[in-house]
Amino acid sequence: LNKMEKKKVLLMGKSGSGKSSMRNIIFSNYRAKDVRRLGATIDVEHSNIKFLGNLTLNLWDCGGQDAFTGTYLTTQKSHVFSNVGVLIYVFDVESRSFDRDLATYTSITNALAEFSPSADVFALVHKIDLVNPEFRVKVVANREAAIQEASGPFAKSLKVFGTSIWDQSLYKAWGSIVNSLIPNLDVMERYLWGLMGETKAEEITLFEKATFLAVMKVTSEIGKKNPYPDRDEKMSNIIKTFKASLAKFTGDTAGPDFCEKFCISAPKFALIIEELTKNTYVMVVLPPGEAEANCARLN
Ligand code: GTP
Ligand code: MG
Repeated sequence: LNKMEKKKVLLMGKSGSGKSSMRNIIFSNYRAKDVRRLGATIDVEHSNIKFLGNLTLNLWDCGGQDAFTGTYLTTQKSHVFSNVGVLIYVFDVESRSFDRDLATYTSITNALAEFSPSADVFALVHKIDLVNPEFRVKVVANREAAIQEASGPFAKSLKVFGTSIWDQSLYKAWGSIVNSLIPNLDVMERYLWGLMGETKAEEITLFEKATFLAVMKVTSEIGKKNPYPDRDEKMSNIIKTFKASLAKFTGDTAGPDFCEKFCISAPKFALIIEELTKNTYVMVVLPPGEAEANCARLN
């Protein structure tokens, strides 16, 4: 029995903080500019999302208006908070009532502690694009400290990310969230290290096909010195936006299959993106040279 099949993922936070926006961008081929037409979520929107082929992500997008939050914490408490694998709590960075947001968050984590004490908690400081780039790191650090203090028993394991639908930060956070739900990741990791041994790869990243989220990464000693540590989430962002644009163009809401192969030969590196299994793509970063790239491809 795996964690993803059985347990649910709760997406919570104040109304207008951006929960449904991120859900539709990550899982339904919306582009960032498409989310403005979303209305407020009434009650809970349930979705069962197929992931890595045979896993199902049971996502509960919980409308954040006060009246709904009130029922989650009273009449629907055990229904909402039992059997939770992950809670994702979204804070709007522009909120003028951060103290009140924190108080609600504390009520939510208390309910979670009561019904699903082993859940993982992720807090997203969202709409970070609205903060001057110079101050972003500092703002997230400040909020993180306050959120941690309000997290009760989850304070130690809490993970906080600054996110925006307008850049790759959204993909970094969601990659990490999804990663915490996948069983047998160690098997995949061993396989990638094996592939690394057979090739001269410096980095190998595994992407889930439908979402193009990076679910696993291995890096060699040489690879650790490579620039651009945010390469994976940038790639997720670029390819997802490309797919969503194609979907818009063709009218195919599920999005067309992205089945291109890329091989880039640059003076300082080579890079391959290719389908690995039915549900994954692999990205391999190699030293420059056609021979290495061809060898890696065969392997
Ligand atoms: P409820 O369903 O009422 O709980 O709200 P919600 O959390 O689902 O909010 P929703 O996703 O509907 O987003 C509200 C608004 O926030 C949308 O109009 C988006 O355009 C905007 N928004 C979402 N994410 C971002 C972001 O990263 N940056 C900025 N600037 N705006 C965002
Ligand atoms: Mg919503």
